[in-house]
Amino acid sequence: MERDEIRETVRAVIESIAPGVDLGRIQADRPLREQAGLDSMDWLNLLDAFAERLSIEVPESDYERLETLDAAVDYLASRQPTQPAQPVGAGVQAPAQPGAMRRRIGSTWVIVRPIGPDDVALEAEFIRSLSDETRYQRFMATLREAPVAKLRALTQVDQQRDLALVATVGRDGREQIVGAARYGVDASGTGCEFAIALADAWQGSGLAGILMRMLIDVARRRGLATMEGIVLATNRRMLELARQLGFRVMPDVDGRDTVRVMRALAA
Ligand SMILES: CC(C)(COP(=O)(O)OP(=O)(O)OC[C@H]1O[C@@H](n2cnc3c(N)ncnc32)[C@H](O)[C@@H]1OP(=O)(O)O)[C@@H](O)C(=O)NCCC(=O)NCCS
Repeated sequence: MERDEIRETVRAVIESIAPGVDLGRIQADRPLREQAGLDSMDWLNLLDAFAERLSIEVPESDYERLETLDAAVDYLASRQPTQPAQPVGAGVQAPAQPGAMRRRIGSTWVIVRPIGPDDVALEAEFIRSLSDETRYQRFMATLREAPVAKLRALTQVDQQRDLALVATVGRDGREQIVGAARYGVDASGTGCEFAIALADAWQGSGLAGILMRMLIDVARRRGLATMEGIVLATNRRMLELARQLGFRVMPDVDGRDTVRVMRALAA
């Protein structure tokens, strides 16, 4: 594919992901994400579209090579497959739902998408599937069945203000939640509190980092100043993950068994 064609493809992809963006105003040598207002979901959808339309998978280590439109065109031109591109839709992955993005983890395609009111049954099944330890670490309660009011609160989310994502896989022809991550904006409106849980079989897969980075990125882009979480003091995995993501661990004045992890979100 010629460079001009790649450039047109990139522009068409941006337009489909951020329909309000004025492409004429995008400066090709200036940071693309800021100019087009792409949040991390948009960004991952963009990468997804490159994979579909150009058969080019962009690894996370190369994201910085797509900083500007010019750089993205150079990068994609240099990564063109030598084999003819597969037709759109070829391959093993199911089509992503609107507002969703797809990531391959190991050999499995995972869809990350906002949770919605129709997900009550899936969410209940997810909670039921967790081991007692995982459920306790997430909810700090031992109940296997989440009460209806809790399920409603978990699935009916104002996604403009807060953010609640689920990671799902296809299993036996239907969708199954394997991870959930959310933040809620606090009463001051400047900070937010996160919570996350992965199905036991998905712990250690890298999915937790992907979900947490998406929460952090969206919260930052929405102008929130801080993110925090309440974590059981014995929850070494979450504490280690939080440290890796730049959170500081501090005592929780409200709980004896818990600690507070917090980080600033400014770029
Ligand atoms: C907390 C949680 C989301 C972390 O996801 P995860 O996939 O298990 O995390 P990771 O495997 O990436 O582990 C994070 C880090 O903890 C460390 N770690 C992993 N397993 C560990 C263990 N058994 N003990 C101590 N540290 C461990 C590793 O350093 C790892 O980093 P690495 O990527 O460099 O290996 C997941 O374990 C989970 O869902 N737990 C139950 C719910 C929960 O605790 N939620 C948090 C409260 S809101």
